[in-house]
Amino acid sequence: MLKNSATHYGAVARFLHWSVFLLFVYQYLSANIMTRLARDKLALGFTQSDYYDWHKSIGLLLLGLALLRWLWRKLTPLPEWAPTLSAAERAISHRNETLLYGCMFLLPISGYLFVMAGGFGVKLFGLHDLANPVGKHELLATLARVVHIVVGYAAVVVIAWHVGLGLKHHLFDRDRFLNRMLPFRRQ
Ligand code: HEM
Ligand code: HEM
Repeated sequence: MLKNSATHYGAVARFLHWSVFLLFVYQYLSANIMTRLARDKLALGFTQSDYYDWHKSIGLLLLGLALLRWLWRKLTPLPEWAPTLSAAERAISHRNETLLYGCMFLLPISGYLFVMAGGFGVKLFGLHDLANPVGKHELLATLARVVHIVVGYAAVVVIAWHVGLGLKHHLFDRDRFLNRMLPFRRQ
């Protein structure tokens, strides 16, 4: 089923959830490689500039996926809460999901503003230079960079809470909580 049912997330929500997750993992790995690699060195056969190009390009792809995901969530009904979640866990998860969406939007937007206002630009997948509608602006570049790095690491805490709650229910309470979102699980 493409749409969510009353008890489980549908194929579209699952596909978007796990593709965003995998691309987020790539973003953290590439960010740490590109900011540490010397210009004339290679890591796994790629230069620092390759890693920057791909970090920026995948970041913009993530912005598109976040937008699709948010629209899908607004346009189709969500499943009901898992019956095993307490009232407090529901309230915290609701807040947490808002924060997760905040991170999914703020990270690519701040990254984009940083590289455009800083005059670095984006070479999409190493192939095509994007136009710069922002123009050089030092203060904006500094602010956007701070937001990008702070939100980047704050997101780890928000994601850790989200994953922790899921694992606690699935593994300790044994209520099959993750099946609501895991791919290839029958409802
Ligand atoms: C969801 C998408 C993104 C995530 C999760 C992400 C994550 C990160 C993280 C964690 C860092 C910090 C690395 C460090 O200093 O240790 C970083 C740095 C960076 N990101 Fe992103 N990023 C995303 C999107 C983007 C986009 C769309 C762009 C540009 C178009 C971008 C450009 C950069 C640049 C240039 C840096 C280096 C900043 C510096 O000089 O310290 N990022 N990113
Ligand atoms: C980048 C990392 C992650 C982000 C940004 C994220 C974000 C979200 C969001 C926003 C939702 C609400 C449904 C929606 O709007 O799509 C959700 C649901 C869910 N996520 Fe994640 N997630 C991440 C990683 C994970 C991981 C690693 C797991 C498993 C260990 C997981 C398990 C779940 C489960 C089970 C649900 C359904 C929760 C419920 O039914 O109440 N997520 N996730």
